[in-house]
Amino acid sequence: MSDTNNTIAGWVLGAGIVALGLSIVSGGIYSADVPETFGYAVEEEAGSDASAVAEIPLATLLANADETKGEAIFKKCVACHTIQVGGANGIGPNLYAIMGRQLASVSGFAYSDSLKSVGGAWTWEQMDAWLKSPKKFASGTKMSFAGLSKAEDRANILLYMNGQGSNLPLPEAPAAVEEETVEAGEEVSTDGASTDEVAAEEVQEVTN
Ligand code: HEC
Repeated sequence: MSDTNNTIAGWVLGAGIVALGLSIVSGGIYSADVPETFGYAVEEEAGSDASAVAEIPLATLLANADETKGEAIFKKCVACHTIQVGGANGIGPNLYAIMGRQLASVSGFAYSDSLKSVGGAWTWEQMDAWLKSPKKFASGTKMSFAGLSKAEDRANILLYMNGQGSNLPLPEAPAAVEEETVEAGEEVSTDGASTDEVAAEEVQEVTN
């Protein structure tokens, strides 16, 4: 009888250890696995590396953007741009009330033909694309700035720039997607922890 019990206890203990091992192993490959499965949630989790991940809509990013952070990021621009009303053109044009304005239309600034030929106005999407990669937006641009690779940084700076004399209405954020983002994000963060906890508890129970 006690032999059988010992055998059962042994099996349970073994199963617990295997479960623990599996959760450690799956934890290891977890980050590589997640992108396809969880879409939005991953970018929330990973924070910085947006390359392998589905994009969060600009409207959602803007709805969550922070003007103060945007002002700090704008420090990267002040070597070439002023943004105050009536500010002088420097290496780049004055950027007061730039959002919503026609591209390449600040008087007294000599734009590249490349930027002049794009046409249209500085919408949220246009400005986001420009600041992501000026060279991709206008291949012959005179703006020698690599771009802001983080979507969150761009949303923050866009919000700040909009506050400097433009005040375009924010694009409407898709509310449903936003909720999904939060829920999926929570799932991801609790999932890994709870698997480990369960396995650890099992082992503990058996050994006690
Ligand atoms: C090294 C100097 C330099 C830096 C740094 C720089 N810019 Fe520029 N910027 C320019 C130049 C030059 C132009 C004109 C581009 C052209 O004519 O092709 C320009 C053009 C622009 C325009 C288009 C303006 C218009 O009238 O259509 C915007 C918007 C802009 N920059 C925003 C920014 C922001 C935001 C940053 C910081 C994240 C930044 N720039 C950093 C030099 C710079």
